[in-house]
Amino acid sequence: MEKNMLKKDMLNKANQYAQNNKLNKRYKPIYHISPPIGWMNDPNGLCFFKGEYHAFFQYHPYESVWGPMHWGHAKSKDLINWEYLPVALAPDSECDEVGCFSGSAIEHDGKLFLIYTGVNRNERNQDMQTQCIAYSEDGINFKKIEQNPVLTAKDLPESCQKYSGEFRDPKVFIIEGTYYMVTVAKADDNKGQILMYKSNDLTNWEFVNIIYQNDKLGTMFECPDMFSLDGKDVMLMSPMFVPREAHRFHNLHSAVYVVGKLEDDSFKEEYHDEIDGGLDFYAPQTFFDGETRIMIGWLQSWGRTIPTHEMGHNWACSLSLPRELTLLDNKLIQRPVDFVCNYRKTQAKYTYQEVSGFKQFEYVKGDVCEIGLDVDVKNTNFFVINILKTDKEKASIIFNKEQGTLAFDRSAIKNTILGEEAIPVSSRYVPINLKDNKFSLNFFIDKCIVEIFVNGGEQVLSSTVYPEGEKAEIEFWADGVATLESLLCWQLRI
Ligand code: FRU
Repeated sequence: MEKNMLKKDMLNKANQYAQNNKLNKRYKPIYHISPPIGWMNDPNGLCFFKGEYHAFFQYHPYESVWGPMHWGHAKSKDLINWEYLPVALAPDSECDEVGCFSGSAIEHDGKLFLIYTGVNRNERNQDMQTQCIAYSEDGINFKKIEQNPVLTAKDLPESCQKYSGEFRDPKVFIIEGTYYMVTVAKADDNKGQILMYKSNDLTNWEFVNIIYQNDKLGTMFECPDMFSLDGKDVMLMSPMFVPREAHRFHNLHSAVYVVGKLEDDSFKEEYHDEIDGGLDFYAPQTFFDGETRIMIGWLQSWGRTIPTHEMGHNWACSLSLPRELTLLDNKLIQRPVDFVCNYRKTQAKYTYQEVSGFKQFEYVKGDVCEIGLDVDVKNTNFFVINILKTDKEKASIIFNKEQGTLAFDRSAIKNTILGEEAIPVSSRYVPINLKDNKFSLNFFIDKCIVEIFVNGGEQVLSSTVYPEGEKAEIEFWADGVATLESLLCWQLRI
């Protein structure tokens, strides 16, 4: 009884705080998920339940910095227009008194189950991470089960005893009636690894194996995921402190996909790469809605200053657009979900426009918009698109033919962002494929978010950017002649 009272208080307190406090919406995204107030990080519990999409997220309503983790909650009929619901989980029980960390959702017996990491403190005052469960009949009000925690440090294999407090982020899925969980734990040799457990009832779990380790991928993994896609098995994970390798892994922590096959309780890798080549993309999670595998990531990097926090706007961070995933020759292809097209309000269209030096188009501008273009770069070495531009600042998308790269650069934006990386990072680039000297871009701007899809999702660069001015002009530049075979600009409105 006492426990339930406490729980009710913490959930109510969080909901009331969001209702009774104000935030500055200057940079608040319109068609991306962002916190009602305060801080958000990882997407959690993504699912399609009883005809609606649900997204939960790591949430600290009381400040625009990370703190004791709750699970915020939003639902949607189309993954773009979200309705924010009461907080789903608060750190209010013995096993999660320090925080309800990341996890996943799955339907079982017609109810929605959340499987999450409960953090508590042991007698030596060390944080311990265990796996816990809550469920809901209506998809809104959740009850933690009596048997919590369902997995503790005792369930870790022998090679993970030294850092037994690092055991988190359960992702549960079902194969032929058996539930499987992938989760991460730090090995005694200070390396990340993915563990697998199985269960028939979501409560009693049995250790299967350590299914993946990779010495080259940093010191610890976070937020694992696993699913089959176009005949292969795919794992996602967010490895910490991965050393730089050419254009890859420039952010403090990275998000990676691994393609291969799960065989004999072990993941046989064929290929891996970074998921997103931008400045801000981490801890993605996927779900299957009956037709498509959809991924959402946290649109932020750890270890960076965040302008909305520094300026006292009372909120920080957001999630990416939901992206449909497919595989092509072991490479992950990401495309924004089609639903976003339903929010295109006005369209500007230009065809066969030559850009030589600087050029602007009257109806191509905005900070809540989508731009699509096909460009022929046969007769130019550089092709640049300056966005969120005023007389004093701009962010740039830069094609460099000699290097064969496309970069996103926010270094000329007034509100600077600093990071903990040894080499400061204010721009990133990816290799770009030309077909007959052409490439295509689809990019989305939503106040402080820029997501660039290259060649139909072969590469994606996602970044935050907080321009001081509000003119949000878009300008093109080529040193030779670039031909915009088609240029489309839609203003997006919810
Ligand atoms: C990843 C992460 C997870 C953890 C959560 C805590 O961003 O560090 O590993 O569960 O955030 O908020």
